[in-house]
Amino acid sequence: MPTTPSTWRLDAPATTLIFDLSRGVAELAYLGPGLPPEQNASVLCGALQRGAHESEPDERIPPSILPCIEAGYAGSPAVEIARAGHQLALRAESVGVEGDDAAVTFHLVDPALTLSVESRWSARHSGVIEVSQRVNFEGEDPVQLLRCASLVLPLPRWATHVTQFSGRWAAEMHATRSEISRSARLHGETQGGTPGFSGGQWLLFESADSTEHYGLSLAVHLAWSGDHTWTLRVDPDGRAVLSIGARIRPGEIVLSRHHPFVAPSAVIAVSSSGRAALRQTLHRHVLDERLPQAFSRAPRKVHLNTWEACGFALSLPKLKSLAEQAAELGIERFILDDGWFSGRRNDRSSLGDWNPSVDVFPEGLESLIRHVESLAMDFGLWIEPEMVSPDSALYRAHPDWCLAVEGLPRATQRHQLVLDLTRADVTDHLYNVIDQLLRRYSIAALKWDHNRELFPIPSGSIGQTQALYRLLDRLRETHPKVEIETCASGGGRVDYALLSRCTRFWASDNNDPIERLRINRSWLQFLPLRILGHHVGPSPNPITGRMLSMDFRAKTAMFGHMGVEADPSTMSEDDRQTLSAHIALYKEWRDVIHHGSVYELCSSDEGAAGWFVVQMNRGLALITQSLFAQHFEAEPIRLHGLEPYQRYCVRLLTPWPEHPARYLNSPQVWREGVRMTGAALAYSGISLPRRLPGTAWLIAVEAE
Ligand code: DGJ
Repeated sequence: MPTTPSTWRLDAPATTLIFDLSRGVAELAYLGPGLPPEQNASVLCGALQRGAHESEPDERIPPSILPCIEAGYAGSPAVEIARAGHQLALRAESVGVEGDDAAVTFHLVDPALTLSVESRWSARHSGVIEVSQRVNFEGEDPVQLLRCASLVLPLPRWATHVTQFSGRWAAEMHATRSEISRSARLHGETQGGTPGFSGGQWLLFESADSTEHYGLSLAVHLAWSGDHTWTLRVDPDGRAVLSIGARIRPGEIVLSRHHPFVAPSAVIAVSSSGRAALRQTLHRHVLDERLPQAFSRAPRKVHLNTWEACGFALSLPKLKSLAEQAAELGIERFILDDGWFSGRRNDRSSLGDWNPSVDVFPEGLESLIRHVESLAMDFGLWIEPEMVSPDSALYRAHPDWCLAVEGLPRATQRHQLVLDLTRADVTDHLYNVIDQLLRRYSIAALKWDHNRELFPIPSGSIGQTQALYRLLDRLRETHPKVEIETCASGGGRVDYALLSRCTRFWASDNNDPIERLRINRSWLQFLPLRILGHHVGPSPNPITGRMLSMDFRAKTAMFGHMGVEADPSTMSEDDRQTLSAHIALYKEWRDVIHHGSVYELCSSDEGAAGWFVVQMNRGLALITQSLFAQHFEAEPIRLHGLEPYQRYCVRLLTPWPEHPARYLNSPQVWREGVRMTGAALAYSGISLPRRLPGTAWLIAVEAE
């Protein structure tokens, strides 16, 4: 191994990392906005050093990228191992570093244990840093891995505030921002076998003064679809260290010569100009570096999903008529949700028996697909392959195929059990069943659902998650044109690892736009509008009971991958026309919505929310009001992201919200367009009536 340099510098667009290697370990000395090439890395590291104090080990051990308790580190160790129930002392020495401008790998070894760790940090073109760890073991006698953090990150000292997320079914990603106190001990963990609704694997750190357009911010994400664990601890000397990784249960990972452990990767992004720039970096990463590239540019078709339109009450005549009405509205893809197979007339049976129901489709599923295609739409199908109903032919044939602990009752959730994907016979069976469906029927898209937690997990969820990835990869290789949407009772399993296999995520079962504005706001910090499934649901909303106009429901659903999840035959003629007009607007603007830079609209009125998406010389804004406004004269909406000296034509896109439009000053001018410069739009803004809850406006901005 060549001699180790004393520092290592890694640059991604607008971001720099400097590692201090002078003390025999790799210490992340700087993570932040891009530094000029002239900045000497050793001088920077030296400027950050402090003298020793009385109450610490004589040989002071910094929180390196692989901190070890045995070396005197008092926080959470990065790696913990045990043999025969006894934890083994681990003391990794840095033995080398190799890399180039795009990536660096640190090699750390514990010679006594014959254990080594490779920690790779890569700078992606999007501006994110991706970190991955691999643990190798060379000994004769295997050891158990108890913990392996994907990332141990000493937070930059400007990161004084953290935003964490919490949630439940139909109320995902509730953001809470708090100050990181001197004695902070924050911890998050999941145990349901998926990231869950609370989004614990998404974290946001900011300087105290950070806003949408100003301040320092840092995002951290664990790209993993199983259980995770993270801790944030401020040590007595004031340094906050974050540790995040997959949750490993005792005995779950056994390291041996031929079985290393590759931890899921963690993603970091930094911004020096607020949350907008951070969001845009993460969106670029997902669009250019995560999603299956075959789908990253094609226009996203408008969906009709049968779930909130029909539930389980399916019949061929009903579905055909639904398809006809969908086509009249301008819908481009018809997704047949739950209830199409075997004896599934409610949620108590048949998961696992993936044959079209002869009651619903006496002439076969082809008859519906042909009808859908004759209406110029393509066809998508719902499946929930990882599950099995106890009342199913599959379960009767293979009762041993599900997760279970011998001697304990098989507890169900939504009346279903979970298949053990770590068994090759199970995943081979699932591959064959889905492969056959995709070969036999003309299916453009799958909605891949997952509606219960994994319990009991006798051998942990890591193997289950890895097997899911292999199954999806195998199917994608055979059927590269089929789009896959990830859904877990809504947004219960959304992460960057799954999104390298799926092209859409179902953000929430809650289609109430007022709830969705909040839920989507959190998702949007990390994920682009292009893949965020957002549907126009019925009114009153089946989950919240809230009644909202079609105008409001349709305008908000345009900001995402738009769909409809309601029965048009139950809508008034006016509502159908309003919906179809918004579907046409979505098609006209989807390239901007899906590929532009997303800015959140800021207002001091807590009932106001919205976004402005800008692509080159065009932009579209959505401004919504969910609570009764504090003032009649609403705060002007200021649109950032435009060229300051460029003149733009600003129009309010029709249809307009009926009641608020009466308060519009000079409606004709807004219809034809107002001319304003980018600077005036950013600093002065435009004033629109939005006093009533349930008001939404679409503002189109085009360079002249
Ligand atoms: C839960 C999903 O989130 C819904 O959209 C729907 O597909 C149901 N499952 C069907 O059972």
